[in-house]
Amino acid sequence: MARKNILHMITPLPQMSPFDVNMALDAGFDAVVPYVEVKLSDVTGLVQDAIFSRPPDAGVNTGVFIAGRDVTLALDMLDAAKKAMVPPFSLSVFADPAGSFTTAAAMVAKVEKALKKKFDRSLKDARVAIFGATGVVGFCTAVIAAREGASVTLVGHDGLTRVQGVATEIKNRFGLDVQAADGSTEAAKSAVVADAEIILAAAKAGVQVLDSALMGRASSLLIAADVNAVPPAGIEGIGVDADAEKISGTSAVGIGALATGNVKYKTEFGLFKRMIEAEKTMTLDFQDAFSLAREIAK
Ligand SMILES: NC(=O)c1ccc[n+]([C@@H]2O[C@H](COP(=O)([O-])OP(=O)(O)OC[C@H]3O[C@@H](n4cnc5c(N)ncnc54)[C@H](OP(=O)(O)O)[C@@H]3O)[C@@H](O)[C@H]2O)c1
Repeated sequence: MARKNILHMITPLPQMSPFDVNMALDAGFDAVVPYVEVKLSDVTGLVQDAIFSRPPDAGVNTGVFIAGRDVTLALDMLDAAKKAMVPPFSLSVFADPAGSFTTAAAMVAKVEKALKKKFDRSLKDARVAIFGATGVVGFCTAVIAAREGASVTLVGHDGLTRVQGVATEIKNRFGLDVQAADGSTEAAKSAVVADAEIILAAAKAGVQVLDSALMGRASSLLIAADVNAVPPAGIEGIGVDADAEKISGTSAVGIGALATGNVKYKTEFGLFKRMIEAEKTMTLDFQDAFSLAREIAK
């Protein structure tokens, strides 16, 4: 009898995301079980409870999904889950808090493809400004772009202090250097925009961070991408469906939320499928998401 594929979905929040539940079931898990208000200190016990209830060769049919809204907590939970394995007992783990790993991966993969196609450039040494950088998507976007050799600037909508904190966290955890810039006034944003070759907007849904007047000052800009699908657009002039289309009033091209969303959806779905079809247990984080998004992005 074929073994059932069971996914234990854990979140520090009071609710598991219905988006992730649907996607896991649609990808083929036989059962998904949410666990809410999970603390970091609970992870070892939950993982060991899951692995010891099935024979070792069923570890590959057992998964843990880590949700929430906090990247560093999700990565700490991922580490705790890995450490909780007791060989030969193990299971697969996939972290994607608030869809941020797959969303950031999809946005950077789309930008990378367009950069190559339209400008024959790579992300290496490209000057990238990230708006919404204190959010989960902004954080992962910064790490993925910096790992590809981009020169990344995190832009703080409420000043320098918090984005400097994010830059320090990225340095401490990943050993990557990223810059921080003030984006709390029009003049400060204008200076950032004027210098950027790539602008990535990962700000809160329904918040416009850059209007057309500011975008008109983007004299070095090659590509801008916006992941906010809720009007008004995060970057004025980029339609949700834009797929490397010219942004009026600039010489750059834009990538909209649904163009990225399409790759994000396939990436998350694909990683769930990969867990189900794996012959060995695996752990999946945003680097795995980026590898798959690169294969998917056109
Ligand atoms: N296209 C897709 O497939 C897809 C998938 C998932 C998510 N998304 C979108 O990705 C975006 C980021 O998601 P998230 O979960 O990281 O969002 P989030 O946590 O709500 O916030 C993202 C960032 O926006 C900032 N922000 C809040 N109010 C602002 C304002 N008035 N002006 C400028 N910035 C402001 C936040 O700052 P604070 O730290 O001060 O709050 C944070 O840095 C959202 O628009 C979300 O809808 C898209």
